[in-house]
Amino acid sequence: RRPILVDCDTGIDDALALAYLLAEPAVEIVGVTTVSGNTDAARAAANTLSLFELAGVDDIPVAVGAHDFRGRAYAGGAPHVHGDDGIGGIALAAAARVHDARPAVELIDHLAARHPDLTVLALGPLTNLAAYAETPAAAAFERLVVMGGAFAHSGNVTAWAEANIHNDPEAAAVVFAQEWDTTLVPLDVTMSQTMDATDLVRLDAIAGALPRALAAMLPFYLDFYAGRVFADRRCALHDPLAAMVAAGVLRGVSVSSGQVEVRLERGERGRTVSSRGSSTQRWVRGMEGSAVEVLLERLESREWPD
Ligand code: BDR
Ligand code: CA
Repeated sequence: RRPILVDCDTGIDDALALAYLLAEPAVEIVGVTTVSGNTDAARAAANTLSLFELAGVDDIPVAVGAHDFRGRAYAGGAPHVHGDDGIGGIALAAAARVHDARPAVELIDHLAARHPDLTVLALGPLTNLAAYAETPAAAAFERLVVMGGAFAHSGNVTAWAEANIHNDPEAAAVVFAQEWDTTLVPLDVTMSQTMDATDLVRLDAIAGALPRALAAMLPFYLDFYAGRVFADRRCALHDPLAAMVAAGVLRGVSVSSGQVEVRLERGERGRTVSSRGSSTQRWVRGMEGSAVEVLLERLESREWPD
């Protein structure tokens, strides 16, 4: 099984991605590090621990990472998209287990040394990974998959910029300057992989405390998207899609390769641009099949504690 470290800002689609990865036989989550984004880094860790507890998982370390971004202080997340608590206001009980004592960068360093075949899956701003890249011992991961960016597609924060990159463009610039094997999963593909009200009925029918929590938080996310982004009641599966790319389970994934850069100047801040050519970086352009189908099928096939 492929070892995966997830760096995330546990909001609703991050929660779906974590649940998917717990149910995906192709991978094993070996650690989680959190960063501010949808909510603050400490809350993202508390959310992750609560979700893991519902799944009966008590052996995956969860470390808290950067509260503030490189270019600015964290100033509140996206409560209109993910709720005040990041997970749709479902009032999950705090987990009995506390977060790992190590700061996120230390846990990343430890796991990178321990797993030469480590896949890192970044589902939030790239603040922790930029800090790791600048440590003297930073090693290249086998593979880095980033949910982020927008190329031909418009942004979801500004006309150009996607949220994870826009929150901390300076950090993204540091990460994209590394010669790491990096795959971006941008809005160009995540906006067309959605979950609708019928899919939610199917999720709601899965037994177990974790699927129940997911089904409880999703209406908030669907409500944000409905009418504003999509004509009907559906939401984009940004982070689960990136998790599936990291797990290598999607059929017919097409990619382009080239150097990705991030615009830092006002007006275009957080915009991702690419120059085609040979590079260690690529971005997903399309795939066959349906992410929601993979997600529901995996969640249905695992037995979850009640
Ligand atoms: C990305 O930003 C966050 O709000 C989501 O969890 C996802 O990672 C989408 O732009
Ligand atoms: Ca996220």
